[in-house]
Amino acid sequence: MANKYKIVHDREVCIGCAACASVCPKYWIMGSDGKSNIVNAIKTGNGEEETIGPLEVDFDSNHEAADSCPVNCIHIFEIKEDGKENKLI
Ligand code: F3S
Repeated sequence: MANKYKIVHDREVCIGCAACASVCPKYWIMGSDGKSNIVNAIKTGNGEEETIGPLEVDFDSNHEAADSCPVNCIHIFEIKEDGKENKLI
């Protein structure tokens, strides 16, 4: 079974530098408010924080997006078979 990951974007911290959308355009796009969005994101809370998954997203390209972010507002959680989440980034 492929690993599942949940990507979390802390939009309150995002400064809109667009590195994520540049290195990982399959999963990240820039929004009209100047901050990025996860493609097909599921909005949570007040909409300032967005999550996707658990889905079988490509870990490597999202890891690259997280690494490119200067304010570290992209987080990746591994979803275990028992449903528990393990924060990787
Ligand atoms: Fe925002 Fe970081 Fe992307 S600041 S636009 S999440 S690289």
